[in-house]
Amino acid sequence: MADAGAGWTDGYTSTDGEELDQTLCAGCHMTDGSGAVGAGEYPALQANANLEFSGYAIYIIVNGQAGMPSLGHFLDDEQVVALTNYLQTNLGNDYQPDGSIEAVGDARPATPTNQDTEDHE
Ligand code: HEC
Repeated sequence: MADAGAGWTDGYTSTDGEELDQTLCAGCHMTDGSGAVGAGEYPALQANANLEFSGYAIYIIVNGQAGMPSLGHFLDDEQVVALTNYLQTNLGNDYQPDGSIEAVGDARPATPTNQDTEDHE
């Protein structure tokens, strides 16, 4: 879903995991999370044991991986947590949602700050 046309930005302000999934993820992973094989290979998010712990999904959503684009710059921490919570408890997944704002922060690439070196003692 590299389409940057109208609709691509709809739902970005949402903190509803389902809405975010349908807006940002379903284009590749399908509405029901069943994935697809065609021009590319999109793994199913449905009944996916890799979602038992949110860390993996958080990392991939924020940073991307192979054919999966990084979406971290579109989403704030709360939205990423809403997404992983949704994925862990929907689409045939029945896991204990364990995503946290801290975990998303940790997954984000370090942003260099100008004062960085002066903060060290
Ligand atoms: C442009 C298409 C595309 C979009 C949009 C996309 N993905 Fe992916 N996703 C992929 C591809 C391709 C892979 C496989 C990456 C690989 O080969 O390592 C993947 C892998 C994943 C995985 C790992 C699955 C596994 O079992 O290893 C998760 C979790 C995931 N995506 C979640 C999401 C979520 C959540 C969103 C929406 C925020 C999303 N993806 C949006 C294409 C996409």
